[in-house]
Amino acid sequence: MKNLILYFSATGNSLEVARKLSDGLVDCDVENMFTFKEDDLRKYDRVGFVYPCYFLSTPKFILDYVKELKFNSDQYIYAICTVNMYDGNAGHQLASVLSDKGLKLSYYKRLKMVGNYIMDYKMPTEHHVERLLKKARKKYDGIIEDIKNNRTKKAYKRLGYVSNKYYALFEERKLKSQILFTVNDTCIGCGICVKVCPFENIDLIDKKPVWKNECEHCTACIHWCPRTAINYGDKTIKRLRYTNPKTLVSDIFK
Ligand SMILES: Cc1cc2nc3c(=O)[nH]c(=O)nc-3n(C[C@H](O)[C@H](O)[C@H](O)COP(=O)(O)O)c2cc1C
Repeated sequence: MKNLILYFSATGNSLEVARKLSDGLVDCDVENMFTFKEDDLRKYDRVGFVYPCYFLSTPKFILDYVKELKFNSDQYIYAICTVNMYDGNAGHQLASVLSDKGLKLSYYKRLKMVGNYIMDYKMPTEHHVERLLKKARKKYDGIIEDIKNNRTKKAYKRLGYVSNKYYALFEERKLKSQILFTVNDTCIGCGICVKVCPFENIDLIDKKPVWKNECEHCTACIHWCPRTAINYGDKTIKRLRYTNPKTLVSDIFK
């Protein structure tokens, strides 16, 4: 059985999950969606997607990516959506995109990890992070068994209208991003923010980051900054930062 896992991860949760699943599934390639060059996936028996939920949805850039891929009609396709709490209609959205291509999302699961959306809420303490991740890690073996046995788990349509509305608000919010990012004097111009941005939305000008207007709010630049020098408005200033303890910053570099 040849396996492929395609992941997207800004702060490392989804990458931790992708790697754990790959350890459990023999003969499994793990690839970052944004650096993987192939769009023809027909040689794989199983294809999995591991990514974070954004605003009760599967991020639009992931749905757009999946639309372009080539699959086999008899492949086992699954997805694990990492969340802070609720995934809303995320699974059903991905299932619909696949269904439009004549394919089935055989297995979908939401996995509660640690919330990273620092623009909206405080980050947990190290102790709390460990507790949350311990709970998530207990689920890995079960998920691996499900996938190994090609089990099915339906992605139900849930909160369809609310999820769409909520995501539309998010799209509006993203338009204001450029002016809200700031960098303070502790910045050493290391350029890590540039390297972790999956959307190539940050330039280093005179050794300081400058944001363009393609931000997806993934929060990688804020959380991975080694000096805690990056903020979004003033709410993030006093908040702790979060990066998945099993993930290194170099794992996130595009
Ligand atoms: C823009 C944005 C929106 C988010 N929206 C949700 C959400 O609607 N529901 C939820 O439970 N978590 C939400 N989260 C939290 C992430 O889904 C969660 O922290 C995820 O595990 C991060 O994965 P990563 O570390 O692989 O990037 C959001 C995070 C971001 C950055």
